[in-house]
Amino acid sequence: MKDRDRSLKQSVKNAESHLRALQNEEVDAVVGRKGLSLLRLREVEEQLRVSEARYRGIVESQREMIGRWTPHRNLTFVNDAYCRFFNRTRDQVIGRHVFDEVVAEDLPRMEAAFSGLNKKAPYVDIEYRVRAAGGIRWTYWTHQALFDADGRLTEVQSIGRDISQHKHLENQLRNNHARLEARVRQRTAELQRQKMASEALNDKIRRLIRKTFEAMENERRLIAKELHDGIGASLAAIKFSIEQRLVEMDDLPPSASLSFEHILSYLVDTIKETKRISRGLRPTTLDDLGLLTTIRNHTHQLRKIHPHIHFAEDFGIEETDIPEHLKIVIYRVLQEALNNATRHSGGDTIQIILEESKDDCLLLTVRDNGRGFDMHAHSLVNEENWGCGLQNMRDRTEICGGKFDIESLLHKGTLVRFVFPCDTE
Ligand SMILES: Nc1ncnc2c1ncn2[C@@H]1O[C@H](COP(=O)(O)OP(=O)(O)OP(=O)(O)O)[C@@H](O)[C@H]1O
Ligand SMILES: [Mg+2]
Repeated sequence: MKDRDRSLKQSVKNAESHLRALQNEEVDAVVGRKGLSLLRLREVEEQLRVSEARYRGIVESQREMIGRWTPHRNLTFVNDAYCRFFNRTRDQVIGRHVFDEVVAEDLPRMEAAFSGLNKKAPYVDIEYRVRAAGGIRWTYWTHQALFDADGRLTEVQSIGRDISQHKHLENQLRNNHARLEARVRQRTAELQRQKMASEALNDKIRRLIRKTFEAMENERRLIAKELHDGIGASLAAIKFSIEQRLVEMDDLPPSASLSFEHILSYLVDTIKETKRISRGLRPTTLDDLGLLTTIRNHTHQLRKIHPHIHFAEDFGIEETDIPEHLKIVIYRVLQEALNNATRHSGGDTIQIILEESKDDCLLLTVRDNGRGFDMHAHSLVNEENWGCGLQNMRDRTEICGGKFDIESLLHKGTLVRFVFPCDTE
């Protein structure tokens, strides 16, 4: 828009200077300084008329409104577009105050803009509302202040156009944008609410699962105790009394004592099996001697079963550093991690590290040097394809507010890492 205004102004300027030159020439001719003949004078008059017509043609053919006004703000010239826009005749407009049709609210802004005009900054571009033929309209104007040689304001030339349609679209756009923003805010708030509700539900579910695990562990503890103290103790008593009878029955025929010895060996096996089941359900050492001893006992048993595997334990913490409620969780996930390492890895070294992190968490790492597995190829990154073992490890850890993480590379071994926060009950 500014470029068009500038080129229009340039055309008007050219026409004006042409006109001025012809006028000067005419005066020169009249005073006879150049000694022009009467014929020449008529020629000049004709040129003047043509030039003026051309000048008017340029100004009047513009769709833009053009006006000129005095420093006292009285209009001295307006083009047809100006008259059409305000639905007035030229006579009705000439002499009027140029701000007469401006909406009152916009006047202070205009005054401020005009007060800044001077010879160095003679232009002002400004938008304001006017009372026009079609009611209140938005207009865009470029005003150019003209100064004399002493820097005094002589006249202002204004070129303007109707931008109501543009303003209307702009408003619509602004309203749509505001509506959209309000909708986004509303949707964000809804999502936030849903997120909070789902977090609360997750929390509830997590607490419930934890309670189920605790109930399961208590049940296991009870059964293990019954097996160990009840059946185990009775079996031990029966074994003892049979041994006693065997000693007393020296004079019995060998066949009879042999059958007693068979019964005794059955009993010994049953006692061993009962102990094994009891330990599997809940190692009594966990409550009596603590987690670190229970882990040592467990690896001791594994060494017997897998003599070719080297088990290395590295405990950077004391028994008293381990919160009571985490002991059974750590034991169970470790059991499964060792189970996987011994069953699937084919490695010959398994390392168990239990340590405390700087931010008061317990870190358990189980690393093997086995064949590892391509987690992507086995779709193990997709948790749905995990076996029970990995899934249980994750569930147990997350229920305590912890994190479970597994890294495995083909032929590079597997590393399973658990982080347990100590401060959650
Ligand atoms: N340390 C490991 N080394 C090599 N492969 C492993 C290791 N741990 C897990 N895997 C692979 O991940 C798979 C899933 O393990 P996950 O413990 O979930 O199930 P599983 O051991 O096969 O069965 P489950 O534990 O239910 O008896 C395993 O079958 C095995 O292919
Ligand atoms: Mg497993």
